[in-house]
Amino acid sequence: MTATGRPGNAHIIVVGNEKGGTGKSTVSMHLTVGLLHRGLSVATIDLDARQATLSRYIENRRNNPKAVAAGLAVPEHVAIRASEDRAGDEGRLREAIARLRAAHDVVLIDTPGSDNYLSRVGHSYADTLVTPLNDSLIDLDVLAAVDPATMRILRPSHYSEMVWETKKQRALRGERGTVDWVVMRNRLSSLDARNKRDMHDLLETLSRRIGFRTVAGLGERVVYRALFLDGLTLLDLRDGDLGHGLSLSHVAARQELRALLHALDLPHRNAPARV
Ligand SMILES: Nc1ncnc2c1ncn2[C@@H]1O[C@H](COP(=O)(O)OP(=O)(O)OP(=O)(O)O)[C@@H](O)[C@H]1O
Ligand SMILES: [Mg+2]
Repeated sequence: MTATGRPGNAHIIVVGNEKGGTGKSTVSMHLTVGLLHRGLSVATIDLDARQATLSRYIENRRNNPKAVAAGLAVPEHVAIRASEDRAGDEGRLREAIARLRAAHDVVLIDTPGSDNYLSRVGHSYADTLVTPLNDSLIDLDVLAAVDPATMRILRPSHYSEMVWETKKQRALRGERGTVDWVVMRNRLSSLDARNKRDMHDLLETLSRRIGFRTVAGLGERVVYRALFLDGLTLLDLRDGDLGHGLSLSHVAARQELRALLHALDLPHRNAPARV
């Protein structure tokens, strides 16, 4: 049973960015656990089943005896690997989305760091599209070409065009509402204030032109990667003795995640917050 009592109506979050290594799988896992801690029923789909970072993260959680003993929630998980049977793969993905959507509050889809047909189909189901961006001008290139001399935006990039395209497909299918495209900066460091300011200004200009909004992102913190093998996130650490202490950095990271979840403004945000 879903926490909201609205089966068939799950909110779909797609985490996507055509560039590799920007934090999609890390953000996917932390959002998933954050939503589970709010008492929501969450399903996850890994469309990067070759690399399978999210699949392994969830498997580690399922296989961690301490996590099991502490009764930590695990999402229902499906991995779909791109094969030569393209139509078959697409069919499996659409069937998985239909089934999970009917049974959960939220379906979260992690996508690969490159453009492929499965990723496009996944993107076309997004109610919320979360795009993590490393905090560098190089990574901004995935959204738009920027003139390095003047810092002016020249044109939208392939990924922005792909998002437009998939929004059209979504509308053609007659899905409810519009897509909330949210760009979040990841691995923010306290150094390099100049780069930070340039990124901020460019993203603000770009957001108006391309049609996304920006939210506060996550800092560069060891705790976002240190718990992978245990299948845990810092949000779990208060749940019994899981063998990890709480540090100041954990507290700051928890604040960041809480702010991110709040800023996403999901329809189920009024569920009891235990994050
Ligand atoms: N905020 C962060 N602080 C510290 N390390 C991070 C942070 N976000 C991501 N990382 C690390 O950066 C690396 C890439 O992250 P991740 O695998 O989540 O990216 P991805 O976008 O899913 O990559 P791919 O495109 O290859 O699927 C990993 O080693 C991860 O632990
Ligand atoms: Mg990944």
